[in-house]
Amino acid sequence: MSADIEKTLLRSMARSDEIEAEIASDPGKFRVLTGDRPTGRLHLGHYLGTLANRVRLQDAGVETWIIVADYQVIMDRDDAGPLAERVFGLVADYLSVGIDPAKSPIFTHSAVPALNQLMLPFLSMVTDSELRRNPTVKAEHAATGGRPMSGLLFTYPVHQAADILFCKANLVPVGKDQLPHLETSRVVARRFNDKYAPVFPLPEALLSTTANVLGIDGEKMSKSRGNTIELAMTEDETAKQLRRAVTDSDRRITYDPVNRPEVANLLQIASSCSGESPQALAEQIGDGGGAALKALVTESVNERLRPIRARRKELESDRSYLASVLAAGNAKANETAESTLAEVREAMGMIYSA
Ligand code: TRP
Repeated sequence: MSADIEKTLLRSMARSDEIEAEIASDPGKFRVLTGDRPTGRLHLGHYLGTLANRVRLQDAGVETWIIVADYQVIMDRDDAGPLAERVFGLVADYLSVGIDPAKSPIFTHSAVPALNQLMLPFLSMVTDSELRRNPTVKAEHAATGGRPMSGLLFTYPVHQAADILFCKANLVPVGKDQLPHLETSRVVARRFNDKYAPVFPLPEALLSTTANVLGIDGEKMSKSRGNTIELAMTEDETAKQLRRAVTDSDRRITYDPVNRPEVANLLQIASSCSGESPQALAEQIGDGGGAALKALVTESVNERLRPIRARRKELESDRSYLASVLAAGNAKANETAESTLAEVREAMGMIYSA
């Protein structure tokens, strides 16, 4: 980690603690923008890592906007897949975990022209060498396995700045790895404000505090590795998936993240779902070995996801309701984006009425 990034990280960690205290006393001060790419179903890692936190913020009274980032799907792959299917699946995932569309608008890039138009003035605020140096662009590009970089991938931190700034969000929940992103949004906002007029807040990062759970093989939980537990799986599918989990040959179960990372991760998953400490769970299993550990994890995951899955099943079959949720979110996003774009035109001297 470079000294610069480390400094940003330390500052953001301290600031995140302060922000949590401010949220508790005055949630109305904040507007959150966050979201996901519609590339597939959400999994337990998403739920424990970000979705539960969004619901927490929403329920604490923080206005929370959720973007389904459909234009981000086409930046690093040839085939966007069954987009509509995935967008509706994502909306169903959101609603089933407790996102309340009356409080938290859910919308897509492609339905909000004024948001996308902000990208043009914003692109004028950054240089190509700044984009080339952006660690997230580099990481995303590396993950495509040598595919030539598209212009959209190259500029996506700026597009993401438009996602955040169109609704003047001042808070973005992020994992550590995404801090450089937010830095681009802050730079764009600062430069725009300095050059034209103070239109935008400088968005801040809210670092997640939850333990990062890994997949059933102890690697990063991701669909391409086949190591996830999807919210949409049945209880049987969950049990089957967890039987494939990697453990070790020591029958005595202990919580030892350094020497037994896979076992520790499974305990961590069960702990995140049940609220009991991983140490207590390990003790409970004693020398029941991997099979008992997997059974316990399955039980706690299924228990935690049961009400979510029941709701998801209902929602899944109600396509017209899901469409109406998106339509309402898109309408709200359009209204806000148009109003921000009008301010931007004005600040830039681009109003040409008589
Ligand atoms: N990049 C995020 C992802 O891949 C999705 C996203 C798009 C986002 N725009 C955003 C997240 C703005 C936070 C803020 O999941």
